[in-house]
Amino acid sequence: GKVRKPTSIISTICDDRGSELTYSGVPISKVCNPEYCIGDVIGLLWFKKKLPPYASQFIEMCLKLVADHGPCVSGAHNTIVASRAGKDLVSSLVSGLLTIGPRFGGAIDDAARTFKHAFDCGQSPEQFVETMKAKGKRIPGIGHLIKSADDIDKRVVILKDYSKTHFKSSQYLDYALEVEKYTLQKANNLILNVDGCIGVLFLDLLHSCQLFSMEEIKEIIDVGYLNGFFIVGRSIGLIGHALDQKRMRQPLYRHPWEDVLYDVEE
Ligand code: ACO
Ligand code: LMR
Repeated sequence: GKVRKPTSIISTICDDRGSELTYSGVPISKVCNPEYCIGDVIGLLWFKKKLPPYASQFIEMCLKLVADHGPCVSGAHNTIVASRAGKDLVSSLVSGLLTIGPRFGGAIDDAARTFKHAFDCGQSPEQFVETMKAKGKRIPGIGHLIKSADDIDKRVVILKDYSKTHFKSSQYLDYALEVEKYTLQKANNLILNVDGCIGVLFLDLLHSCQLFSMEEIKEIIDVGYLNGFFIVGRSIGLIGHALDQKRMRQPLYRHPWEDVLYDVEE
């Protein structure tokens, strides 16, 4: 029989060869109908599934909620400085995106992995926190620089409320909230933060929506899909900051000497 020439690339998410582009088999004319939101586009291109409306709306809500958090956070600061240095839009954007990582915005996947492992192993919240402490590790998804139990993060409240009315299960969120109760006894700012909340709620969503097998859930968590929500969402705000600086024709930024402790040996 015929032997097919091996291809250099395999792609499984979309097809641009026919008369109409398809995302996971769905023609873009259909994707453009109002019943497909951006959450559905993410469903098709990342998860290769048509997600139920409550799940797509949840993704879209995550994107809206993380779109910006002011000019002072790591990402926006970098973008503003780059934009004021005369860099183009894509350079200013990626300068901000490059700050997304384990401390800032990029703790969603690690939070999902760490909380899932602890919960699935049957660790009590106390055991989990103390084990992490003994390993000298911070718990991904716990802690915030400015938000605390006294100044709650409204984003987290909105996400929790949505999950209460739309999700069939809340076992990982409930566990994370028990962990939060324990960490709050140590310090007021050791809240379940927005990264942690998205991470555990996505675990609840994946386990309860009956669209994903256990292997698929494991793969999603192992590969690390979830930081993508922060990356896509925050890109909206970072582009806003880059354009804002250019619109105001802001000059080159130089950090003030007074704000640096020069401690150089003679
Ligand atoms: N787990 C356990 N203990 C913690 C944690 C945590 N996640 N965060 C802080 N602590 C404790 C530690 O004992 C720390 O002391 P150490 O520095 O000796 O380890 C002590 O609190 C003091 O920490 P702070 O200085 O108050 O923490 P800070 O406010 O500088 O850090 C931060 C905030 C970076 C978010 C931190 O809590 C952290 O690394 N969290 C985990 C990563 C994370 O979830 N990042 C996402 C934040 S939300 C977002 O970016 C959109
Ligand atoms: C953010 O969304 O950028 C934040 O939660 C981080 C911060 O320091 O406010």
